[in-house]
Amino acid sequence: MSRRRQVYEGKAKILFEGPEPGTLVQYFKDDATAFNAQKKGTIVGKGVINNRISEHIMTLLGDLGVPTHFIKRLNMREQLIKQVEIMPVEVIVRNIAAGSFSKRLGVEEGTRLPRTIVELCYKSDQLGDPLVGEDVVTAMGWMSPRDLDDVMALTLRINDIMTGLFAGIGVRLIDFKLEFGRFYPNEDEVQIILADEISPDNCRLWDAKTNEKLDKDRFRRDLGGVAEAYQEIARRLGIRIDPQQVEA
Ligand code: TMP
Repeated sequence: MSRRRQVYEGKAKILFEGPEPGTLVQYFKDDATAFNAQKKGTIVGKGVINNRISEHIMTLLGDLGVPTHFIKRLNMREQLIKQVEIMPVEVIVRNIAAGSFSKRLGVEEGTRLPRTIVELCYKSDQLGDPLVGEDVVTAMGWMSPRDLDDVMALTLRINDIMTGLFAGIGVRLIDFKLEFGRFYPNEDEVQIILADEISPDNCRLWDAKTNEKLDKDRFRRDLGGVAEAYQEIARRLGIRIDPQQVEA
């Protein structure tokens, strides 16, 4: 990986220049952070597992007509992706109350919401990703009203597909976070596509029978068995990972 020029380093991933213009290589680290990086740690093998889980979900979404940045997996920790202009808005989808929603509104964790709720947050570590309204997003030019329409329609389709996928493996999709980007297939065309990753780092996943948490809340809340939970999600999705490669 050191052969390539690094273009960006985030909390859980590094982006390198890709082999062709318009492509990037996304490298998944084992680093974990929570509460806007106030809590830091390492989850051994997380990068390997999230690379595979994100590949699995993005491939399924792509097959069902959702445009994504995923091109192909290159190796255990890297995938080739389309280069996009990330829009500075985190899109949070909530089916069941949990986390900051429960805290902010006093709704008990695990309460089914009357309908799916989509929240938007301004992507800024410095400001702690504050919740913003659609009006702010369009007024500030982070998304045009048309971008926002596309994002909302894609988000609800992604939620339907992922809810079904996880229900099929005995997992409740509580909530998750998406990021979208602008992709320029050529000079006068622009497409809104799904970017970043989809993994237990940015989804809340509870076992359907026991409600056991199988996601990053195990790290955030010091519940132990973090890597095991991520592995369990991979296993249920039918992803086989050589244990030796997880430790590599
Ligand atoms: P929250 O309840 O803490 O707002 O999180 C909602 C969902 O979004 C949860 O599945 C975790 C995910 N998430 C991220 O992926 N990154 C973040 O920075 C935050 C705050 C949440």
